[in-house]
Amino acid sequence: MFLNANMQADAARAELEAHYDLEPSDAAMKATAEIYEPLRATIPEPDWMRFAPFIREINRVKVEKDAVILAHNYMTPEIFHGVSDVAGDSLQLAIEATKVAQQTIIQCGVHFMAETSKILNPAKTVLIPDSRAGCSLASSITAADIAKMRAEYPGAQVVSYVNTTAEVKAASDICCTSSNALAIVEAQPGDTVIMTPDGYLAQNIAAQSTKRVAYWQGACIVHEQFTAEELRAYRESYPGIAVIAHPECPPSVVAEADFTGSTAGMIQWVKTNRPPKVVMVTECSMASNVAAEVPETDFVQPCNICPHMKRISLENILWALHSGTEEVTVADEYMEPARRAVERMIEVTNS
Ligand code: 13P
Ligand code: SF4
Repeated sequence: MFLNANMQADAARAELEAHYDLEPSDAAMKATAEIYEPLRATIPEPDWMRFAPFIREINRVKVEKDAVILAHNYMTPEIFHGVSDVAGDSLQLAIEATKVAQQTIIQCGVHFMAETSKILNPAKTVLIPDSRAGCSLASSITAADIAKMRAEYPGAQVVSYVNTTAEVKAASDICCTSSNALAIVEAQPGDTVIMTPDGYLAQNIAAQSTKRVAYWQGACIVHEQFTAEELRAYRESYPGIAVIAHPECPPSVVAEADFTGSTAGMIQWVKTNRPPKVVMVTECSMASNVAAEVPETDFVQPCNICPHMKRISLENILWALHSGTEEVTVADEYMEPARRAVERMIEVTNS
């Protein structure tokens, strides 16, 4: 049974209600009080009343089922702070996936992240709460496109962002994430490197690299929406505001920012610099997650939402734990070459 269609979602909800105590109650509020305390300013109490029974049950059932919850920084605060065991950017999640002791990984993020966990942990069961959680970058390129790029730039190494399918990773020489892309590109032999699939990330890296960077024209539907004009308007409206951006933004946006980094890099920057006011030029939920940890900073929050990340909810996380679905598998033919591309990335990052 899957949560993908409305009717099936209703049936799943009924089954969850038959097995777990999901009614808002004082007992559930009490059981989650410690988690809620730092989130009071972020999540209104009536919302927490609804979340609390799910959080209590998920945290109990994940132990019973020997499962670990990996959550990307774009998860909503009740997931990020309420039920995750490990939270981070794509690189951190990929590395942590190699260390988990539990038999089952619940990947709270998008499909390529769950595939990466499976590639690095073939013996584990990897579940995603909603397999429709895709990514505009991952769907923008195929292995055949990589072959065309190779033909156009003979001898150039292919560096593919982890925001790609297993098939594309398998066709690439090495992967990168937003936090190590420059180091990975610089470590490649030859003077030309092919970067796929994010055209903006590639242009932002090319601006700092000694290599000639040929790139694919994919884009993130969240970050491509930001404009330099919008950032200048923030500075005008809020004098002194710190502006920090993700490198999936267009180069004109990155040029306006005080700092550019991966989601983990942006969080670290705020924790280190503790600016009085900041705008995080990235997906909406991240500011809510950091706000709970840096209460003295005022977050101006442009709410650009990733619809894929937002498919993950407390309800479908509990359903994944309860039902053991939806399992993420990777075709045998892609497993080894995709793992080599991801492991090479981790080796270069650690060296
Ligand atoms: P990070 O690796 O910076 O977390 O980015 C992943 C992503 O999907 C950003 O849109
Ligand atoms: Fe993909 Fe952009 Fe969503 Fe990240 S925010 S998962 S890059 S569509």
